[in-house]
Amino acid sequence: MLVISGEEIRTLYPMKDAIEATKRAFRLFSEGKTHVPLRTNLPVKENNGQVLFMPAFVGDEKPAVGIKIVSVFVDNPAKGLPAVPSTVLLVDAENGFVKALMNGTVLTQIRTGAASGAATDLLARHDSKVGALFGAGGQAEFQLEAMITARTLEEVRVFDPRIESCRAFIDRIKDREPFSRVRLVAAETSDEAVRGADIITAATTARRPVFSADSVKPGAHINGVGSYTPEMQELDPRLLNLAGKIYMDSIDAVLAESADLINPLKEKTFSRDSITGELGELAAGTKPGRASSEEITLFKTVGIAVQDVVAAEEIFRRAEIHKAGKTISF
Ligand SMILES: NC(=O)c1ccc[n+]([C@@H]2O[C@H](COP(=O)([O-])OP(=O)(O)OC[C@H]3O[C@@H](n4cnc5c(N)ncnc54)[C@H](O)[C@@H]3O)[C@@H](O)[C@H]2O)c1
Repeated sequence: MLVISGEEIRTLYPMKDAIEATKRAFRLFSEGKTHVPLRTNLPVKENNGQVLFMPAFVGDEKPAVGIKIVSVFVDNPAKGLPAVPSTVLLVDAENGFVKALMNGTVLTQIRTGAASGAATDLLARHDSKVGALFGAGGQAEFQLEAMITARTLEEVRVFDPRIESCRAFIDRIKDREPFSRVRLVAAETSDEAVRGADIITAATTARRPVFSADSVKPGAHINGVGSYTPEMQELDPRLLNLAGKIYMDSIDAVLAESADLINPLKEKTFSRDSITGELGELAAGTKPGRASSEEITLFKTVGIAVQDVVAAEEIFRRAEIHKAGKTISF
């Protein structure tokens, strides 16, 4: 069994390749070639935590099977530990043995960035120059990397109400490739970030919309990454009526989990019929892309286990080629 660290994943799995692999993951999902059981959630009340098990089977030329284990232990930070540790187990689809164990936190960061990257690549205007990123937390670096990998941007404005963490985030990455290629600005207000932006990504823990639909320019592309519970809403519901194309990673998962869609549907300000489809259908060419340079496009993702298994299989394949990771035997 191969053990692969987060640092190794970062080297083995560049964002550009992750974006292409993610398009394939979404395509296989929308073609019905995957099996994704409901995730199992085991609360550990004694320690104020929960452990989530997210398995998936991906039927491709070479089938893949795996499971991501994500824990949420809110008291961890006080003990100097991350609150959301994560690990991925990859199973050999030929014989059922576990063939790899890898850092699930880094894998998730890359695959989540790559989901927005895939949508941006498929939907954003090719002449996009300005980006806006909402949220300067754990996902931010990867969302930013995906945005500037998908399009050649000149400037990205980052907004986070915790302005000090926003500035610290920019300082930490600004001199590093590929971030040094763009001008990074810590926006003072959400409006300052979003006005004139061609690509807007929200990856926040917000419970209320993080920018106003009135400030979104015609032709903009929007990625909604953060909201994954009926209490978390980061997209202005009016965006759903402004957008000419609305894509999701999984329509069923988004409608079950995210207040970004649950609330407008409940309040009847938006109809399910207005959802264009799943990003996998766009990737497969069975659903249409951007119709004009003025059209607003929107992608909402809550994340599906198929992304994890496709990413894990890619990382494992590359680790074997480059002789990376540490082999252990039971
Ligand atoms: N779609 C997916 O597949 C997927 C995968 C992983 C994580 N997520 C979700 O993405 C979100 C971000 O993840 P993270 O790890 O970066 O979380 P994090 O807690 O590290 O950071 C969240 C950031 O959002 C900021 N924020 C809160 N309200 C805001 C607002 N109104 N405007 C701008 N910023 C605001 C916070 O200050 C914080 O810096 C979380 O909700 C997470 O669960 C989604």
